[in-house]
Amino acid sequence: MAEKSFKYVILGGGVSAGYAARAFAKHGAKHGEVAIISKEAVAPYERPALSKAYLFPEGTARLPGFHVCVGSGGERLLPEWYTEKGISLILSTEIVKADLASKTLTSAAGEIFKYQTLIIATGSTVLRLTDFGTPGADAKNIFYLREIDEADALVAAIKATKNGSKAVVVGGGYIGLELSAALRANNIDVSMVFPEPWCMPRLFTAGIAAFYEGYYTNKGVNVIKGALVVGFETNENGEVKNVKLKDGRVLEADIVVVGVGAKPLTQLFKGQIEEDKGGIKTDAFFKTSVPNVYAVGDVATFPMKMYGDIRRVEHVDHARKSAEQAVEAIYASEEGKSIGEYEYLPFFYSRSFDLSWQFYGDNVGESVLFGDSSPASPSHKFGAYWVKDGKVVGAFLESGSPEENKAIAKVAKVQPPADNLDKLATEGLTFASKI
Ligand code: FDA
Ligand code: NAD
Repeated sequence: MAEKSFKYVILGGGVSAGYAARAFAKHGAKHGEVAIISKEAVAPYERPALSKAYLFPEGTARLPGFHVCVGSGGERLLPEWYTEKGISLILSTEIVKADLASKTLTSAAGEIFKYQTLIIATGSTVLRLTDFGTPGADAKNIFYLREIDEADALVAAIKATKNGSKAVVVGGGYIGLELSAALRANNIDVSMVFPEPWCMPRLFTAGIAAFYEGYYTNKGVNVIKGALVVGFETNENGEVKNVKLKDGRVLEADIVVVGVGAKPLTQLFKGQIEEDKGGIKTDAFFKTSVPNVYAVGDVATFPMKMYGDIRRVEHVDHARKSAEQAVEAIYASEEGKSIGEYEYLPFFYSRSFDLSWQFYGDNVGESVLFGDSSPASPSHKFGAYWVKDGKVVGAFLESGSPEENKAIAKVAKVQPPADNLDKLATEGLTFASKI
């Protein structure tokens, strides 16, 4: 089979791939130099849309509406854009073998791709209940959500629901919260089940979670905490019918959506590249341990300069920025120049129902809640600060205005001193607006 050769290959066609392509074009990459190889059938798009407007019954988002880089207010890169820029968009092509020593990638169909510089942007894949051996987890109508074809399958299942159809959402993280809201918006009866004592324990304190659990309950979501799913029962067509919990409860379900976490796609490179914390280890320029190989987005374990440690981040803001940093670094190294290290302030966000929160910084140390965090509050404007070693290191805000969100971002960046937690709680947003 014919061999194709490129100066730069971006492996993966998700968020970071799209932002990397834009950065290559900005640098004046020549026609034919850059290729994106993606398992997906569509040009890079803003993945966050899949768990939000893509599933809504009204104001529905569809491609080409949310191709990158609209999510950060940038130009929308339609498939024609890649053609104009001479960037090869090699879609529906899964790479099944990577030989970093010979700089060769092989696709499932046997095509061979050579590169001089590789950017690994393979992102994450979902954890499956079949991986944990949960009985019945391979039943029909059990959905996961990572890529657009999975979102399409879920949309079809939602469309097939009738009045009174029931969904069980397994997991109380990002997918759990966003999907429960999207299914409710489609007028489906929703139960959200998760094993922890409160939702989104990776980030939320018990106080923050109490607001969302109360709010979701008021919207008709049956929030079932501290419960483990141990199996599924099906009807004669092999479609899911019941979800069995460890405590003996049984929940009826026409649809099940599972969001129990993700793992970075590093398998292709095992034994060929240095790894850490489950991801591909990089420096502050996203260079890996292998010369001319970079890793960005969800797969990269990179130095988090602000906190003096190394981390992996599974969020879109980092996917975009790491891709841009890697391309800058590639050109700088070719030109014998140097650029600044990646200085990343963690930024996560989510939207569901009429809620919208933002978080900046680090959620470590003691936390204080401020504002009106009653689920029945008409404004639902509240937030939290995290304080470590007498400094505010993290800030969370629900329903903030753009200026207020900017103010909490600044707090997390500047890390102002705060020794009196009660005072901080009383001051709330006023504290942030003074920084
Ligand atoms: P991404 O997953 O975007 O892309 C990886 C690409 O590589 C995919 O196209 C995949 O098909 C391809 N690929 C993988 N292996 C391959 C192979 N062997 N051969 C060829 N192609 C291969 N974050 C946030 O901050 N706010 C939000 O609201 C959301 N919302 C959200 C919703 C949903 C449904 C998901 C799944 C995720 C989010 N996220 C998010 C997380 C965010 O989308 C995520 O961190 C970024 O998409 C990561 O970008 P990457 O480019 O690293 O991977
Ligand atoms: P997550 O890590 O946010 O949440 C996983 C949740 O699964 C846990 O909180 C827990 O409640 C639950 N869980 C774990 N094991 C379980 C088990 N055996 N049974 C039942 N529940 C179990 O992961 P996710 O929500 O699946 O999200 C997947 C990926 O997509 C992540 O990388 C996430 O960052 C990303 N994502 C991000 C956003 C956002 O940033 N707004 C939105 C959607 C998805």
